[in-house]
Amino acid sequence: MTTQALIETALALIAGDKGLLAMDESNPTCNKRFAQAGIPQTEEARRAYREMIVTAPGLADSINGAILYDETIRQCKKDGTPFVKVLTDAGIIPGIKVDGGAKDLAGHSGEKITEGLDGLRDRLRDYRKMGARFAKWRAVIAIGDGMPSRGCVEANAQALARYAALCQETGLVPIVEPEVLMDGAHTMERCRAVTEDVLRSVFNELFVQSVVLEGMILKPNMVLPGLACARQETIDEIADATVRSLLRVVPAAVPGIAFLSGGQSAALASARLNAMNVRGKSSTASPPWALAFSFARAIQQPALEIWRGEEAHVSAAQESLCHRAMCNREARRGEYSG
Ligand code: 13P
Repeated sequence: MTTQALIETALALIAGDKGLLAMDESNPTCNKRFAQAGIPQTEEARRAYREMIVTAPGLADSINGAILYDETIRQCKKDGTPFVKVLTDAGIIPGIKVDGGAKDLAGHSGEKITEGLDGLRDRLRDYRKMGARFAKWRAVIAIGDGMPSRGCVEANAQALARYAALCQETGLVPIVEPEVLMDGAHTMERCRAVTEDVLRSVFNELFVQSVVLEGMILKPNMVLPGLACARQETIDEIADATVRSLLRVVPAAVPGIAFLSGGQSAALASARLNAMNVRGKSSTASPPWALAFSFARAIQQPALEIWRGEEAHVSAAQESLCHRAMCNREARRGEYSG
């Protein structure tokens, strides 16, 4: 696998104003969302849900790549066709979440470190043989009293960089996802300062670990006020703060930024992404990288609430899924109108 091939895959993931669909919820997370929607938490229900998604007609009109989970990459349609083949035949690049989840960070109460580096080289090789062409690793950073600590930021940044280097060695494009959470009463200014600090650490570690920036995608949070903060900035203020922060800390060699939605409503996530791209259309403010999306909840949640585990609701759920995906394609062009 050459560096050129990695770069081509990274560019293909953000090509044509489309984005990524994160359908890589771990079994516990997927079960939690099923429980809230009254859906049985079984392997068969998870399989049927993912079949609804990967067979949605027209999904590839807005989606270049789909991130799968270890269970999902091994699953098939009811007729036996592997999901990886369904996606590839539709022109959607299969990816795989490879982190082992966020665990308590020793000595840092309330903070998390993402695990999963042990044995990762072999797992990446296996996933590549199964058809994956890119991977994802999520680090979780909470804002609170004395948080995040240096220990938390640096440990997570180093793990992200080691994961990214292993991905590139195996011929997989790493999606590097340091998520600063929106839970809390902190201001947007505090989120801005933490996000910039985290990204500075991440890019420093990516440099130390010799990661090729042209062959990766950054998946950050938007710069947002905490959910419980009294002052909630406007869509344009959030878009402006987010792009300004990224311009300060993300090297121009990175081809694309694909935001996570992080619990924002589907409509707000699209509107804020749209405002960033509208801002970027002015020649003085045009950023050097694509501003794309890699949403899970902001694309899937409305469809999940329609589907509710019922075969009879599959087409309506697929329509909703493709509608949200298309809204985000419009947002990439700065043409989303709500
Ligand atoms: P959300 O868009 O729901 O935040 O999920 C994105 C993701 O992939 C989290 O790792």
